[in-house]
Amino acid sequence: MKHLLLICLLLGATAAAATDTGTVLITGANRGIGLEFVRQLAARDWRVIATTRRPAAADELNALATADPDIIVEYLDVTDHQGIDALAAKYLDQPIDILLLNAAMGPTPQTAGARLAKLDFDVATKSFAVNSIGPMKVTQAFMPNVALSERKLVLAMSSDSGSFVAGSQAPVLFHYKASKAALNMYFHTLHFETRRTGVTVVMLHPGLVGTNPGLMRFPGALKTADSVGQLLTVIDGLTPADNGRFINYLGESMPW
Ligand SMILES: NC(=O)c1ccc[n+]([C@@H]2O[C@H](COP(=O)([O-])OP(=O)(O)OC[C@H]3O[C@@H](n4cnc5c(N)ncnc54)[C@H](OP(=O)(O)O)[C@@H]3O)[C@@H](O)[C@H]2O)c1
Repeated sequence: MKHLLLICLLLGATAAAATDTGTVLITGANRGIGLEFVRQLAARDWRVIATTRRPAAADELNALATADPDIIVEYLDVTDHQGIDALAAKYLDQPIDILLLNAAMGPTPQTAGARLAKLDFDVATKSFAVNSIGPMKVTQAFMPNVALSERKLVLAMSSDSGSFVAGSQAPVLFHYKASKAALNMYFHTLHFETRRTGVTVVMLHPGLVGTNPGLMRFPGALKTADSVGQLLTVIDGLTPADNGRFINYLGESMPW
């Protein structure tokens, strides 16, 4: 009898998580981890504002949106600050439960291994514009929407590369590592402000995820669906007590 009660309670808890719905806005939703978040959240009946800098070319995302009217595809380039403000004006006064700042400019085979003498500062400027300043600007524009919502979550997709301790201890990925460390400091600083407003700001590390053939070759690379599935379990459990944390896809604290 006790076991039956426990099973009923567990089933009830699972059903509650699976039917927990709301509105999420995702940047960089046309491929990789962002697209997988669209898939998995839409499957949970969330309303998904799926943003991409090239809606006309977002074939997989557009196919999902055609099949599910709760997926809305919008233009958003995180370096286009006027465009960000225009999208925020379109959604004025609409609650957004989760702002998922996923878009990023990753290292390329040409830039990843560049040492000091070969550092390209145009790439550096763009990396900071996309990976650090862009998420902060999107947050500034949509914070009123998050504050109106039930969940009140701002999630910045960071990386172990942004950690002094967990990132690779080698002279590689200069711009990516520096721009993710800057992202962490931006959102760490923001959490001091949001603890007064009840918005929970969390930085996430998704693990090493095989979102392209190069990453897939790394031993132990996670499948995109598995990383996102685990992240959603972590996100389900976030509370205001997590404000300001940097955590991985298993919910473990990451070192700064
Ligand atoms: N994969 C990993 O192992 C890993 C590990 C740690 C952290 N992360 C982080 O997790 C997030 C997603 O990673 P991912 O592997 O899925 O990345 P990805 O496959 O490289 O996708 C990046 C996404 O960001 C978009 N994007 C790039 N510049 C943009 C801009 N200016 N405005 C709007 N969107 C822009 C891309 O759009 P386009 O298609 O138009 O280029 C694409 O949708 C990133 O923040 C990444 O740093 C990933």
